[in-house]
Amino acid sequence: MYRSHSCGELRATDINKEVTLSGWVQRIKDLGSLNWVVIRDRYGITQLVFDEERSSKELLESSKKLGREFVIQIKGAVIERESKNPNMPTGDIEILVSELTILNESETPPFTIEDQTDGGEDIRMKYRYLDIRRNPVKNSLMFRHQVGMQVRNYLSKEGFVEVETPYLIKSTPEGARDFVVPSRMNEGQFYALPQSPQTFKQLLMIGGMDKYFQIVKCFRDEDLRADRQPEFTQIDCEMAFVEQEDILNIFEGLTRHLISEIKGISIGNFPRMTYNEAMQTYGNDKPDIRFGMKFGELNESAQHKEFKVFNDAELVVGIAVPDGASYTRKEIDKLIDWVRRPQVGALGMVYVKCNEDGTYKSSVDKFYDQDDLAKWAEITGAKAGDLICVLSGQTNKVRAQLSALRMELAERLGLRNPEEFAPLWVVDFPLLEWDEETERYHAMHHPFTSPKPEDIQLLDTKPGEVRANAYDLVLNGNEIGGGSIRIHDKETQALMFDHLGFTQEEAKAQFGFLMDAFQYGAPPHGGIAFGFDRLVAILGGQETIRDFIAFPKNNSGRDIMIDAPSNIDDTQLKELNIKLDV
Ligand code: AMO
Repeated sequence: MYRSHSCGELRATDINKEVTLSGWVQRIKDLGSLNWVVIRDRYGITQLVFDEERSSKELLESSKKLGREFVIQIKGAVIERESKNPNMPTGDIEILVSELTILNESETPPFTIEDQTDGGEDIRMKYRYLDIRRNPVKNSLMFRHQVGMQVRNYLSKEGFVEVETPYLIKSTPEGARDFVVPSRMNEGQFYALPQSPQTFKQLLMIGGMDKYFQIVKCFRDEDLRADRQPEFTQIDCEMAFVEQEDILNIFEGLTRHLISEIKGISIGNFPRMTYNEAMQTYGNDKPDIRFGMKFGELNESAQHKEFKVFNDAELVVGIAVPDGASYTRKEIDKLIDWVRRPQVGALGMVYVKCNEDGTYKSSVDKFYDQDDLAKWAEITGAKAGDLICVLSGQTNKVRAQLSALRMELAERLGLRNPEEFAPLWVVDFPLLEWDEETERYHAMHHPFTSPKPEDIQLLDTKPGEVRANAYDLVLNGNEIGGGSIRIHDKETQALMFDHLGFTQEEAKAQFGFLMDAFQYGAPPHGGIAFGFDRLVAILGGQETIRDFIAFPKNNSGRDIMIDAPSNIDDTQLKELNIKLDV
């Protein structure tokens, strides 16, 4: 028996018990005739004492051979500690060791395995198995498990069945590039790893499964950011015989359940906002509504004077920064530099200080009088003491820029409280999105999304204005879920492919299986997928999903611990009939 108790378990009530513990050496405090060693496992830490007087000289000597991260087993008696540590659950006791076995030695670890470590990101990734011994990482993984259990409980109770779908498939268009896998048995042919199980979950509805879910890996070859990994996990769901309202209700229920079970916070009905409203009010389709600073459009009140920059702009729009009037000239200049950074891309920024005495002082006083500026304050909701920041230019660009500024300022002002949860449904997304690069329309969600029936007539004349039965769940400014009601008849699906620029042959080659299935009694259906990593991270009060993934990739898509991706040898290439031209 390796252990009678875990390292986090023993309390004062266990005093005098004979126990066996196993774990890793966390800390050693050698006082000569006395050696204190702290032992750790997943459950906690316990202090051991090796004492020349109370045990033996040999035992004390062998304890001095221990090093950090050695794996040991000890037997001993639980005794009361002389100086108790109230910050440690096992802090009232220690173990007077009578027997020590070294189960495995350890090299000195490349960084300290403590909550606050001296290891940088790269070294911790390279030795991720050591990083996982640290409380912050270990706790994040355990937290992820808890959220997963709650998801499974809730959905099972609601009658959903977890079904596994294949990983070696054909391309599913979710807007990223595919990762592909060569087939040895089918020369020259490739599988694609699923960007999501989208087509399979629809086929499960045609198969009559009615309510499906799966906590599933998805693979997308796209540029990485804090909230994106090349392989990530979705809570993927689909339901038959439902309308948008049914789906929103069930998944609002799931989110409410999670926030209540995991965080102990109860949240009422989630607000809803159309895509257009979100873009107009927050410049963003995933607005953080924990704070205000709503956009005020100023075209009408700013384009009647001689200020050419505003007159030439498609959109002039501002936000009120709470208490920003006290910013110094230097601070405002810094803010202007910030919006001019290439990552944001604004050409400049106009500002108005709303003085406490009710007057205004702006960077464009030459063009605008106090009445004009008062109007701007009214539109942006600025109060005395606030600062109005105004940007102008092409609508989409200027909205993105002001949205970036709004988020940055909120961060600086401490308005993004990670312990506050503000969910929001964004609905009525456009069906199609114009892509400048390829000069054609793409499906904004995916090609299986149903247009709103009343908008179908606009497909030929104003395709950009057709709205979809598509929705996103936004939590604290992050898109955590997205879904739609699907097309379930062959004709509409064919019409959709046609508008997306597929020839009939291309559509048949890529999605013939789905179009065929639609001919055998496809029920009306729809669904949603949550980004599980994102959801877990946000519930955990963070936005970097890497911290909640056991073995994540770095920003170049590499696993630096196992060194992947890597070359494969010639025999393997030959078997796969792949000739490298390098
Ligand atoms: P979508 O593409 O919106 O929808 O993806 C659903 C959710 O998955 C998360 N997500 C990611 N998380 C981490 N890393 C990534 N690279 C990444 N990409 C997406 C986001 C997102 O909201 N098949 C549809 C769902 C449906 O229509 O039912 C789909 O995959 O949180």
